Amino acid sequence: MIDQLLFEELTDGICITDAGGTPLYLNSAAARMLEQGAGAHDTSICEQLCGRFVSGNSEYPSACPLKVPGSTEKTALNMGRCRGMDLRVRCVRLATALFDSWEIEKHFTIIEDATAEMAAERLKEDWRNMIAHDLANPLTTIYGALKTLEEIPPGQPLEEGEINLIRMCTRTSQRMNETLTLFLQVARLDSGLMPTRPEILELLPLIRECVQEQAIAAADKSISIDLVLPESLRVRADRNLLVRVLQNLMSNAIKFTPGKGRITVSATTESDGGVVAVGIRDNGPGIASEDLPFMFDRFHQVRGKGDTLIRGNGLGLAFCKQAMKAMGGDIRVESALRFGTEFRVRLGRVA
Ligand SMILES: Nc1ncnc2c1ncn2[C@@H]1O[C@H](COP(=O)(O)OP(=O)(O)O)[C@@H](O)[C@H]1O
Ligand SMILES: [Mg+2]
Repeated sequence: MIDQLLFEELTDGICITDAGGTPLYLNSAAARMLEQGAGAHDTSICEQLCGRFVSGNSEYPSACPLKVPGSTEKTALNMGRCRGMDLRVRCVRLATALFDSWEIEKHFTIIEDATAEMAAERLKEDWRNMIAHDLANPLTTIYGALKTLEEIPPGQPLEEGEINLIRMCTRTSQRMNETLTLFLQVARLDSGLMPTRPEILELLPLIRECVQEQAIAAADKSISIDLVLPESLRVRADRNLLVRVLQNLMSNAIKFTPGKGRITVSATTESDGGVVAVGIRDNGPGIASEDLPFMFDRFHQVRGKGDTLIRGNGLGLAFCKQAMKAMGGDIRVESALRFGTEFRVRLGRVA
C-alpha cells in the first residue's frame, strides 16, 4: 500500500491500532522504538508506550482522552521517558477503511523521539537553576557591598571594614567565575565540543603535585594525607583534565571530612594490570546509599538531617564524570555512612 511505503521512510514511529490499542500496523521506526518485530501485533500499544512511561503523566493510559468511556475527543497527546528515550506520543481517532473495515474505530499514533530536544531543554533548565542559585545570591552580596562603598566621599581613606568589603567582592566574584567555568566545561564535555589532548603521563608526579597543592587546606583542618603509590605508572590522559579531576576529588575530601581526619590517596592496577585506578579515600561522614546513584548528577548536593549545606555548587563531580568519560576512563564511588568515602578514577595503563 502506498501509505505504508511512505511511512517506512519516516523517522517518527507510526502505529495504527483499533480503539483498544491493539496494533494493526507499525512502521519500522515504531517497531524499533517499541523494541519489537514489526510482526508482533499482540500487546496494546497504549500499555507498551504510555503505560511504561517512568516520567510524565502516569495516569495514562486509563486517563487518555480517547479511552474515557463515551468520549468524543479526537486527539490525545502524552509525553514521557521510556527505554532511555523521551517520547512524544500523539494519537488521533480517525475513520478509514485501511487495514480493516470502516466500521472498526482506528487510532493513528505518531511516536516522536524527543530525547535530543529534552536534553537541550534540561540544559536550559540547568542554566536557569545555576543563575538563580549560584550566581544571583553572590551578585546581590557584591551589589550591596558596592552600594556601601559608593557612599564614601572621594579622597576619604578607606576604613578596615571597607577594605574587607572589597576583599569579599573579589573572593565572591572569583567564586562566581569558577562556577561559570566549571558549568561551561560540563556543558561542553556533555555535547562533545571540548577537545581533549591525550598524552602519555607519568601518573605519580602528577598525583604528588595535586596533593601538594591541597596541603595547606588540609593542614588548616589538621587532616593528614597518606600516599600509597607504587614505583611508577603511566597512563594515557589529558593532563589538564586529569589534574582538575584529582583537584576536585581532593578538595571534596578535605571539604567534607571533619578536622583531624585522614585522607589516603592510592594508585593501583586492576584488570590484570591493564587499568590504573587512583583512589581518594577519606574517613569523613560518608554518603547514604540512596544518594550514591545521583552523586555525578549536576547540582546534586547531599543534605543530611539538620545539616547546613557546605559551600559549593554540586558541579564538581559532574565535571569529573564527564572528564573521565572524555578520556576513555570512568569514575566510581564507594561509601558508607559514618565510615567514609572513596572515589576511584580509572584509566587505561600504558606499559
Ligand atoms: N568525599 C566526600 N564525602 C562526603 N560527601 C561528598 C564527598 N564528595 C562529594 N560529596 C557530596 O557530593 C556532593 C556533590 O559534590 P560536588 O559535585 O563536588 O559539589 P560541591 O563540592 O560543589 O558540593 C557534595 O555536595 C557532597 O554532598
Ligand atoms: Mg566539589
